[in-house]
Amino acid sequence: MKKQFLDLGKQPIANNFLHEDQYEEEQFFNISMGYDSDSGLVSLMEYVDKKVLFNENYAYKSSMSTTMRDHFNHVALSLKVQFDPGIVLEIGSNDGVFMTNFSMTPRDGMCCISVEPCSNFAEITRSKGYTTYDKFWDIDTAKEIIQDYGQVDLVYSANCMCHIPELRDAFKAVHEVLRPDGVFVFEDPSLSDMVEKCSYDQIYDEHAHIFSVMALTKLLSDCGFVTFKIDHAKTHGGSNRIYAAKSNAYTVSASVPEALNNEYELKLDKFETYCEFADRVQKSKKDLVDLLSSLKNDGNKIIGYGATSKSTIVFNYCGVGVETLDYISDTTECKQGMMSPGAHIPIIAPPEDGIADDINYAFLGAWNYEEEILKKESVFVERGGKFITHVPDVRTI
Ligand code: TYD
Repeated sequence: MKKQFLDLGKQPIANNFLHEDQYEEEQFFNISMGYDSDSGLVSLMEYVDKKVLFNENYAYKSSMSTTMRDHFNHVALSLKVQFDPGIVLEIGSNDGVFMTNFSMTPRDGMCCISVEPCSNFAEITRSKGYTTYDKFWDIDTAKEIIQDYGQVDLVYSANCMCHIPELRDAFKAVHEVLRPDGVFVFEDPSLSDMVEKCSYDQIYDEHAHIFSVMALTKLLSDCGFVTFKIDHAKTHGGSNRIYAAKSNAYTVSASVPEALNNEYELKLDKFETYCEFADRVQKSKKDLVDLLSSLKNDGNKIIGYGATSKSTIVFNYCGVGVETLDYISDTTECKQGMMSPGAHIPIIAPPEDGIADDINYAFLGAWNYEEEILKKESVFVERGGKFITHVPDVRTI
């Protein structure tokens, strides 16, 4: 049974950037997290309707940072080398940052087709010539693909499986679409990273689950898969890439028991661990509120850096708004000129020559790109500007 351990209160849709005239229709949902001791899954207590979250207005664009572009190019190359697949199916292709590393049709040998329910993004890959099914991932979509292409060699999915409440159905549909010797590779934010880093801002409407390897290996096995390898990646603040096969064709690498042992050491199989995490989240909130108010009282000008889903959670949970932050800068065009969800902080395009001279502090909404951002904003740092982060604890950088 799923038991609640953390309540982040009413939260707006984390990626729903809006204009002032849309405030009245803005929707809020209870965001609280629970641990299910039977399945081992850590999931939202109440799921938000997928059509409310993933539609033609979806704002998150995977290719906007060099870190993510490099990451997906590297993953695509590594999958080619490891598995030499014919047809790759990507589930949740966003703007095509991964799939465009492959050819468009089976005529060319190795190729990639995809499923993407946000039609604004499905249109981007289609317009480049790729087959993209503008649908949610389920057994019907799997059957349609089998009819059109036959079973595929490799299914890849990044930051998408954790969005799916009915996980068992999703895995079974992957099992159906894969050839008997096919491989299923997927990556999502890792629960051990979230617990260790106290990065509670991973918990928002889209993240129906935050995955442990323990829970995934069990569920995958129930659905007819053998988990044979796990890579840890730095993306999204720490992710696990899971490799699962329908057959025993692959030797199980040491990475699987290593990841499981690490999770047992962190006691991710104990409800008390999550209660202790919830206590640290409350402390993090208090520390951030105290730091921001003392900086503000000293006359500092503070902005947000990166209008992320994560920062939506932090600002709404901690009650940070326009009284504290002048604006948020973000490189994603469709977020610029809009207001942040719930807190209604204006979002602007980053100035070409870096953070403006009158700004003393910038809250790192995109803390998962700290390295890339510090490099890019070296002038700000050299003139004494400081970044603020809450991960793993509240501090200035
Ligand atoms: P991400 O952390 O992937 O967001 P989410 O929490 O929504 O999953 O998104 C990073 C956001 O930060 C994205 O909107 C672009 C923005 N960004 C900048 O504005 N400047 C930067 O230098 C980088 C790396 C990201």
